[in-house]
Amino acid sequence: MEVRLAESAGFCFGVNRAMDKVSEQIRKADGNKKIYTYGPIIHNSEVVRDLKEKGVDIVESTDEFEKIRGQILIIRSHGVAKAVYDKAKDYGITVEDATCPFVSKIHDIVRKRGEEGWHVVIIGDATHPEVEGIVGWATGPVTVVNTEEEAETFSCNNNAKLCIVSQTTFNAQRFKHFVEIIKEKGYYTDVINTICNATAVRQSEAAEISMHADKMIVIGDPQSSNTKKLADICRSNCKDTYHIQTVRDLTGTDLQSGTCVGITAGASTPNHLIQEVLLYVRGI
Ligand code: F3S
Repeated sequence: MEVRLAESAGFCFGVNRAMDKVSEQIRKADGNKKIYTYGPIIHNSEVVRDLKEKGVDIVESTDEFEKIRGQILIIRSHGVAKAVYDKAKDYGITVEDATCPFVSKIHDIVRKRGEEGWHVVIIGDATHPEVEGIVGWATGPVTVVNTEEEAETFSCNNNAKLCIVSQTTFNAQRFKHFVEIIKEKGYYTDVINTICNATAVRQSEAAEISMHADKMIVIGDPQSSNTKKLADICRSNCKDTYHIQTVRDLTGTDLQSGTCVGITAGASTPNHLIQEVLLYVRGI
């Protein structure tokens, strides 16, 4: 039986960096300050549980800053609004910033363009923490567009110069389509494609492997939207696709009848969970 593991399976560069930052803080902890993350560091309940055992807790909003006065707060790869840094400072909280540099770059664009009088359009999901964070760096008018309808109904001051950016994980085709709709309105427009290709590479590799595999395993938290998307892509090519969280979920699964088993994993799946699955499948 051939086993193919996607090279792009698991953590992307930004998530790896954020996880390293958390490990570094745990190592450096001297017991005087407690460590918190702003929201779960990644969407993986196993990892969050493990970190809790190591003394890392989560705060969900700035409303909890009074409770963590003077402690350490790690900002995850999605980034946060400027107001979060400002409030942390007010409470004497030490911020360890693990915002992915690709996201920080968008914060800079949005801040500078606002100061220069541009109307910023962010193509993305307004309820996603990354987009909430980007909006929170705007220094002028800002609009979030997430659907075709929102692109069609978008309008602003006739003399406005538009700067369009994207949520890093937005689908490239949809981004292009929405940009075309907005451009047709005749505004002076500058488009800065800020999509990160880590997601696209992971998805196209998953598509390629699942086309040739007769069993496909996708590892990741059931709540992780990028893992669900990977599973959908794989399922469209390979009907025997299993979305699992850990190797334990493979118990009783018939993999023996496969001649080629493909494995991939979402952006928030730790490497040790991937290796466990790989060892298990190779052992069949
Ligand atoms: Fe950064 Fe791209 Fe990952 S923006 S957090 S490397 S998906």
